[in-house]
Amino acid sequence: MKLAILSRAPRSYSTQRLVTAATERGHEARVLDTLRFSIDLSGQEPDLQYRGRPLDDFDAVLPRIGASITFFGLAVVRQFEQMDVYTPSPSNGIANSRDKLRAIQILSRHDVSIPATTFVRDRADVLPAIERVGGAPVVIKLLEGTQGIGVILAPDTKVAEAVIETLQSARQNVLIQRFVAESKGRDVRALVIGDRVVAAMRRVAKGDEFRSNVHRGGTVEAVELEPEFQRVAVQAAQIMGLRVAGVDMLEGADGPVVIEVNSSPGFEGIERATELDIAGAIVDYVASQVAFPELDIRQRLTVSAGYGVVELAINEGAALVAAGTTIGELREMDIAVLTLHRGTTVIPNPRGERVIEVDDRLLCFGNLEAMRRLVPGRRRRSQLRLQPLPDAAIDDA
Ligand SMILES: Nc1ncnc2c1ncn2[C@@H]1O[C@H](COP(=O)(O)OP(=O)(O)O)[C@@H](O)[C@H]1O
Ligand SMILES: [Mg+2]
Repeated sequence: MKLAILSRAPRSYSTQRLVTAATERGHEARVLDTLRFSIDLSGQEPDLQYRGRPLDDFDAVLPRIGASITFFGLAVVRQFEQMDVYTPSPSNGIANSRDKLRAIQILSRHDVSIPATTFVRDRADVLPAIERVGGAPVVIKLLEGTQGIGVILAPDTKVAEAVIETLQSARQNVLIQRFVAESKGRDVRALVIGDRVVAAMRRVAKGDEFRSNVHRGGTVEAVELEPEFQRVAVQAAQIMGLRVAGVDMLEGADGPVVIEVNSSPGFEGIERATELDIAGAIVDYVASQVAFPELDIRQRLTVSAGYGVVELAINEGAALVAAGTTIGELREMDIAVLTLHRGTTVIPNPRGERVIEVDDRLLCFGNLEAMRRLVPGRRRRSQLRLQPLPDAAIDDA
């Protein structure tokens, strides 16, 4: 495999480890400076120039994009995607994770616990927002902070209001978040590769600091994660669209609370704490996936006019259930069921003889007209409350 590592810091620990791990495994790895690419859209096909010359062919790209160059870095990764080069860190996933608000918005509809969070603009809405997340003390966060910078614990409402007003007057967008007090000064970082957690560590803040970031003096220790923490970490990474991610979770009273998903997690702390070969695991994973470049399903499917992807949530009293409809019968209506969510399990490519049940969720690709006939119309939110995920719903209403 020929691997491109996008990094502005060729000598940094993580970049060096990736190069070494790839080379040890007989792959060819090159570190390319993200800012020296030119995105070339002048020819027949999407292309990239590097340092003014046509770029060699690569099988995979591992982006390690710092927060300060997110915009350009994302454009470069997106260009690799258009050129069908595999990446475990698609541009969409990186973009989702970079913005704390966007990340939490996306996670919030799934079965992943996040701290109660609000986002407001008008001064008049600040106080009610603080109350909604449980009142002071509250955490105030800049949307695009890293390393603990821009994360503030406001002890009372007065301070919270003052901090928010100050930041907003400096044109900064801020989140207001419930302070998960039982986790004060500690969090868990799970390193997810593909669909499993390969390593995990607990970070403990220094002194009476509440932020456990290593850059804020936090110390690290290896931990064996409980299955629920592992499930949540993998799910959070998948929801964000990342195959390699560092998922940060607080240890809440009711289990894991996801606060952040990092698209370029550093390896130094976690490799030292766990003595595991994270870089090697990433390289092995990438080598196993190069045949499957990232593709934007919606983008590709618009090519087939009249077809699309729809999620159908089967409600109480649905005609399909009353009729004992099977997956195979939907197929005959020109609707292919890609996955069937039933309870806590996901069944990919369900068999034709399976009978549809109440509370099933079907991710379908098919004839939009045929699917529309099954859906009586967009249901209102008040009706959707009990159903966490429906984009569309079937019932007899
Ligand atoms: N809602 C919260 N309750 C308690 N502690 C928090 C909360 N949010 C963040 N922290 C602490 O602050 C640290 C930094 O927050 P985080 O959102 O991860 O920002 P950053 O991107 O700067 O690391 C976390 O690692 C955690 O220790
Ligand atoms: Mg963090």
